[in-house]
Amino acid sequence: MDRRQFLTTSIGAGALGYFSLNAAWAAAMDHSAHGSMDHSGHGSAGGASHGAGAMTLKTVPDMPLLPVTALAAGRAHVALSKLANTATAANRFEATLTAAEHQVELVAGQQTPMWLYNGQVPGPLIEAFEGDEVAIRFVNKLTQASTIHWHGLPVPPEEDGNPQDAVPAGAERVYRFKLPKDSAGTYWYHPHPHGDTPEQVYRGLAGLFIVRSKNDPLRAFAEQHLVISDLKLDAQALIPDNTANDWMNGREGQFVLVNGQREPVVTIAGRQRLRIWNACSARYLQLAIPGQKLTLVGTDGGLLEKPVVHEQILLVPGQRIEVLVGDGKAAQLALKALAYNREKMGNLEPEVDRVLAQLVFTAGDVPAIPAQLRKINDLGRATALKKVEFSETMSMENGVHTMEFLVNGKVYDMDRIDMTSKLNEVEIWEIFNNSHMDHPFHIHGTQFLVLDAKLDGKRQNAKYRALHDTINLRPYETVRIKMVQHDKGLRMFHCHILEHEGQGMMAQVLVK
Ligand code: C2O
Ligand code: CU
Ligand code: CU
Repeated sequence: MDRRQFLTTSIGAGALGYFSLNAAWAAAMDHSAHGSMDHSGHGSAGGASHGAGAMTLKTVPDMPLLPVTALAAGRAHVALSKLANTATAANRFEATLTAAEHQVELVAGQQTPMWLYNGQVPGPLIEAFEGDEVAIRFVNKLTQASTIHWHGLPVPPEEDGNPQDAVPAGAERVYRFKLPKDSAGTYWYHPHPHGDTPEQVYRGLAGLFIVRSKNDPLRAFAEQHLVISDLKLDAQALIPDNTANDWMNGREGQFVLVNGQREPVVTIAGRQRLRIWNACSARYLQLAIPGQKLTLVGTDGGLLEKPVVHEQILLVPGQRIEVLVGDGKAAQLALKALAYNREKMGNLEPEVDRVLAQLVFTAGDVPAIPAQLRKINDLGRATALKKVEFSETMSMENGVHTMEFLVNGKVYDMDRIDMTSKLNEVEIWEIFNNSHMDHPFHIHGTQFLVLDAKLDGKRQNAKYRALHDTINLRPYETVRIKMVQHDKGLRMFHCHILEHEGQGMMAQVLVK
């Protein structure tokens, strides 16, 4: 494996690429001069030792984009298409997911090549039950290697689409796993090949996975699904490669879509349960329905112990929530992503509030909200401690602009084991974001409890128990989490801004 996982774009990479990157760099420097961080002090930390094997990431200059109005808004929200279960026996889920390029007419009269699972935008919804044996045949009709990673699910490492287990172009394999008791929740799946995850996701590869319980305390509520994704289209309605800014800050397109639609109209009769996914590469969603509160009932790993009422909920890339909304009164409101400053680099447009969907509340059933939802095990006393540090470096040595996104001072190496954990041992992980930008931490194979967070010297305990596989870290924040791994093998943990993950802000823990 000779590909190096950090961004190095040399002057030889092409004049436009150089100028674009240079401009972005100048902007980044300018940003630091205004106070958030002194980048120059970090210049030589990693750059020198890595210079030789530099990989040039595909980077294009900024290009004109279609106006946001190029995609029709205001259409009725479409339900996700479900992946049909072809199993003949009970307690089994069997199906095929084929990744391939398809031409999609997103903009009237124009063809957009996208990489899709079973030709669908977004990918199909898998709905299965706790206790089910799942067998998904993955057929890779892309021209590059891929994997399917079951984000958030407790799947054995060898079935979890690790970069080491790539399915070559033209090949196929079957992923097999059993959905354990107590795994009911809202998950998703996406590619996880070495280095190419950002591109495969921004070209359209991602799908949804709901694990249901036969004893769901919220079964009285009608349910709707909102998958929020991000799309960038150039003036020809093509999906362009990443710009230097995309690689630095994570890619955000001009379109924010809900189930592949721009600002759909969601009709909510009475009180309903919404499952919401942040499937964006990098966009943060400070969710709110101005005029209504959000009753949070579930997070990444399923239901909370008790409902918690919020005005706003921050949903970072990779995360999911379940909320109850509606009180039976008619109202026209909107689901918004309120401006959130994640301290991106460069002189960028200020963040603004965005409407994600129009919500039309109508009369209907208003089931009572149960006071208790489930019991979340606190896992008991931790007997191991791990420390993780996210950081960034930049340098301009020898006319080569280098930027690195690091975990514990290193760029990801798929042949290196960064840590080991003991099977079934309760661990505390102390994660420190030693950088000036927000980064969402994600780990494979398990759900964790957040214990506390420390920012500016102030420690805050988690206010309630909730299961997460992804958690945000503000600049210079330390978050402590508690977890256990129940399968032997190799697990990735990384920043879920996919461009950062793709540049190596990832490491691996071997569970033995
Ligand atoms: Cu959705 Cu390794 O992640
Ligand atoms: Cu994951
Ligand atoms: Cu990041």
